Amino acid sequence: MKVLGIESSCDETAAAVLEDGKLLSNVILSQLDVHRKYGGVVPELASRAHVQAILPIIREALNEAHLGREAIDGIAVTYGPGLIGSLLVGLNVAKGMAAVLDKPLIGVNHIEGHIFANSLDHPEMDLPFLALIVSGGHTQLVDVQDWGKYAIVGKTIDDAAGEAFDKVAKLLGLGYPGGPEINRLAKTGDPDFVKFPRAWMGADNLNFSFSGLKTAVLNYVESKSDEFKQKHLADIAAGFQQSVVDVLIEKSRKALVRLGYKTMALAGGVARNSALRKAFLKMGEQNNLTIYLPDYDFCTDNAAMIARAGEFYFQRGQTSTLDLDADPSLKLPANYPKGAEA
Ligand code: KG4
Ligand code: ZN
Repeated sequence: MKVLGIESSCDETAAAVLEDGKLLSNVILSQLDVHRKYGGVVPELASRAHVQAILPIIREALNEAHLGREAIDGIAVTYGPGLIGSLLVGLNVAKGMAAVLDKPLIGVNHIEGHIFANSLDHPEMDLPFLALIVSGGHTQLVDVQDWGKYAIVGKTIDDAAGEAFDKVAKLLGLGYPGGPEINRLAKTGDPDFVKFPRAWMGADNLNFSFSGLKTAVLNYVESKSDEFKQKHLADIAAGFQQSVVDVLIEKSRKALVRLGYKTMALAGGVARNSALRKAFLKMGEQNNLTIYLPDYDFCTDNAAMIARAGEFYFQRGQTSTLDLDADPSLKLPANYPKGAEA
C-alpha cells in the first residue's frame, strides 16, 4: 500500500511517500527565508509560499519514490490544527488529487502526526505510552492508550515550549527560529550560572506555564549591562534551556507514575533539542523506562509523519469524505478521521 502524505499547516510545505511503513521519499521546503526578517511566521506570506511550492514538492516526492500519481493508493493530508490559509492549500490539492485519481482521502490531525513520527523508526512501539508533544504551537502530555485513542493529561496554560524558545531568543537578540539558536549557544554555557524559575504550579499539577520564565529572562537581561550580557549570553541561554528541560522532565516523570506507564515518546520540533534528548535518555536509564525519540528529521513538521498516520487509518478502512474542511483549532483526541465511520 502506497500513501502520499501532504503537510502545509504552518511554514513547511512537505510531501512524502510511504509504502507499507517504508519511507520512499520525504521532501520538505522550509519557508524560513520568507519569514526570518519578520521574526515569526506571517500567515498571508505562508499561504502564498505554499501555493507556489505545493505542486513541485508533490511532484518531487513522487519522482524520488519513482512512482507516477496513479500508483498512489491513498492521499493523507493535514486538515488541522494550523493556519487556516496554509491548511487550505494542502487540503485542496489533496482533495483535487483524490477526486481526479479516484483514490481515498485521509484527513490527519497534525498533532497526532507528530506522535506517529515515532513509529516511522519504531513500527513496533509498546502501547500504551505517554507522549510529550513540544512544538512551536503545542505543549501537551498525552496518554496514548492506543493509536487513535488519546487523553490529554497536561498542557500549557500560556506559551508553548517552542514559542518560549523563540521569544527568549528574540529578546536575547538571536535569530529565528530561536530553538536551534539557543540550543547551539547553550552548549558553551553554564546552566547553573543563573537559576531561572521553574513553574511547578503545585505538586500534582501536570500543566505547564512558560510565560513567567520568559519574563524572568527579560527582567534579568534588562538589569544587566550590555557588556555583561555579551559575556554571559551562552550562560543565560543555558540557564533558560535548563529551566525548560527540568520542568518537562519532572512533569513527564509524574505523569508516567500517575498513569503507571514505563514507556514514553517525545514529539514536535523541540524534541530536536540535544539537552532535552539527553535528559530524557538519562531519566529512562535511571528509572528503567523505554524512551522513544523521533529521528531528527521527523521532529519538526514533515509529511512522512502525516503519511504514517494516514496509512494507519487507511489500513483500518477509515477514510475521509471529500467535503472534509480545514479546522485551524482541531483538538486531540481526533479518534477517527472526520467523515469516517467510528
Ligand atoms: O513541530 P514544529 O516544526 O512546528 C510546530 O508544529 O509548531 O516546531 C517548531 C518549533 C519552533 O518553536 C523551534 O524553535 C523549535 O521547534 N525547535 C527547537 C529546536 N529545533 C526546533 N527548540 C529547541 N531546540 C531545538 N534544537
Ligand atoms: Zn508541528
